Amino acid sequence: MIKATKVTKRFEDPPTQVLHPIDLQINPSEFVSIIGKSGSGKTTLLYILSTLDSPSTGICEIGGINPASLSEEDMHWFRNKNIGYVFQFHYLLPELNVLENVTLPSRKSGDVEQKIPYALELLAEFGLQDKTKRLPSQLSGGEQQRVAIARALIMKPKFIFADEPTGNLDTTNGITVMKLLQRVNKEFGATILLVTHEPDYAAMASRQIFIADGKLSN
Ligand SMILES: Nc1ncnc2c1ncn2[C@@H]1O[C@H](COP(=O)(O)OP(=O)(O)OP(=O)(O)O)[C@@H](O)[C@H]1O
Ligand SMILES: [Mg+2]
Repeated sequence: MIKATKVTKRFEDPPTQVLHPIDLQINPSEFVSIIGKSGSGKTTLLYILSTLDSPSTGICEIGGINPASLSEEDMHWFRNKNIGYVFQFHYLLPELNVLENVTLPSRKSGDVEQKIPYALELLAEFGLQDKTKRLPSQLSGGEQQRVAIARALIMKPKFIFADEPTGNLDTTNGITVMKLLQRVNKEFGATILLVTHEPDYAAMASRQIFIADGKLSN
């Protein structure tokens, strides 16, 4: 479960109250989208819920853990094991091939070799079985994004956070990525939080939450 209790966020430079007290609960295996205009606070909220940033006030909880209670190192391990991230820009490493990029998160836990069959399985499911040895620069944007999703899945995370994962893609590739997320949610039971400003994509989640000026509504 992901839970936010009276979470606010204020930036000091320049002084901006970006999130007003937010209460939110996302249940295990839910697929929730947060939709709102540019500047409404979507990324800020996703960063806080996904442990990448901390709230100014209020309490967050993910999988029964309050990130504020963990050391930096424990937090790092928690993320690596439990959370998959997909961003608008994929952040694949340019010098690693597709398979190496997908297995990258397992380097930290030292089990790259064991993860290779699963990586190949994911890449095949995503239609990339013939491209496992290519470098990211030798792929289309949609293919790169599918590789990024495979990488987010390699550790079988309980939670997936996606910030505009379709932002860079044409409609066909955008829908492919959304359908992949739907499948991951159904087949793996992963809890997914998707941030988007596209109503059509937001509607593909099982629950939509609207955000305007840092406040939520259903
Ligand atoms: N580090 C920061 N310091 C000051 N203000 C910030 C900072 N980060 C974000 N903001 C402001 O907070 C508000 C919300 O930003 P956020 O990135 O959460 O919006 P968003 O809904 O994700 O927008 P977009 O759809 O354009 O990505 C914006 O007004 C932004 O200018
Ligand atoms: Mg954003």
